Amino acid sequence: MLQLVYISSANPTLAIDLDALLAQSQANNLRDGITGLLFTDGKRFLQALEGEKERVEDRFLRIRADPRHRAVVVLHRRMITEREFGAWSMARRTFDGPFDAFSEKVAELCRHADPSIQGTFRGLIEVRQARG
Ligand SMILES: Cc1cc2nc3c(=O)[nH]c(=O)nc-3n(C[C@H](O)[C@H](O)[C@H](O)COP(=O)(O)O)c2cc1C
Repeated sequence: MLQLVYISSANPTLAIDLDALLAQSQANNLRDGITGLLFTDGKRFLQALEGEKERVEDRFLRIRADPRHRAVVVLHRRMITEREFGAWSMARRTFDGPFDAFSEKVAELCRHADPSIQGTFRGLIEVRQARG
């Protein structure tokens, strides 16, 4: 299986309907056996995709070309024998709860992932936290 993690910037000129994006992604990913994690703070996306190599590569080509985001940079790309992220899920920073609860949720979602990948997710969260 292929595990691919990328970061990108949301296109500020497009209003992104995250609910619709997630619904479409979940339907496609379920069909294709792709799982992972999508984190967004509204400005950036950090996504981990896992699944059969060809399917992940094919889907990523489409995702990469999506005008809703840009500056897509692949952070990790490696073959894995077991999925390291759980079922598809999305963690999004919300302002109606304590920040630690959010951080814990992301940590929990990727607790099986490689430490460097966990570090990537945590790093993004901490940058957001520092900015307030
Ligand atoms: C940040 C981001 C993450 C996305 N993640 C997924 C995904 O995990 N699965 C998916 O099918 N589409 C995802 N998409 C949507 C794809 O870019 C593309 O619109 C979609 O895969 C096309 O679906 P279709 O094959 O049904 O036309 C994502 C888009 C963005 C902007």
